Amino acid sequence: MKKILVINGPNLNLLGLREPAIYGSKDYKALETFVLENGLDLGLQVECFQSNHEGAIVDKIQQAYGVFDGIVINPAAYTHTSVAILDALKAVAIPTVEVHLSDVDSREEFRRHSFVSLYAEKVIKGKGFDGYREALEHFSEK
Ligand code: DQA
Repeated sequence: MKKILVINGPNLNLLGLREPAIYGSKDYKALETFVLENGLDLGLQVECFQSNHEGAIVDKIQQAYGVFDGIVINPAAYTHTSVAILDALKAVAIPTVEVHLSDVDSREEFRRHSFVSLYAEKVIKGKGFDGYREALEHFSEK
């Protein structure tokens, strides 16, 4: 069974509370449940990780080397700023899909650039929770 690491970046722990008009009314726990259930359905072994800290995300990506077969990452605000997360993904060379709940292209100009997209095999934007299902499908052999 393929092992997939799902990483969520800063402020995604505040889903539900955080700008519900943009990110929806469901909380982070609901996202984790959605991701784990869809992983099971797709025959994947999924682990979820959330952090508000760039270095903790870099550490987690480094630790994924030799353990996980794929990464699904919503780097949140670090999408637009973090060369360190890009470099960590390139270093471990684990196939990666980037997900954004909102359609980052139709929001502020600064959200249109993603460092992680320079590495990701696929980028999914603006599909809410369903974007994570689509990302997991990318790795599913079912
Ligand atoms: C986000 C979009 C980012 O621009 C933002 O900083 C986030 C969430 C999304 O899922 O739509 O925190 O990655």
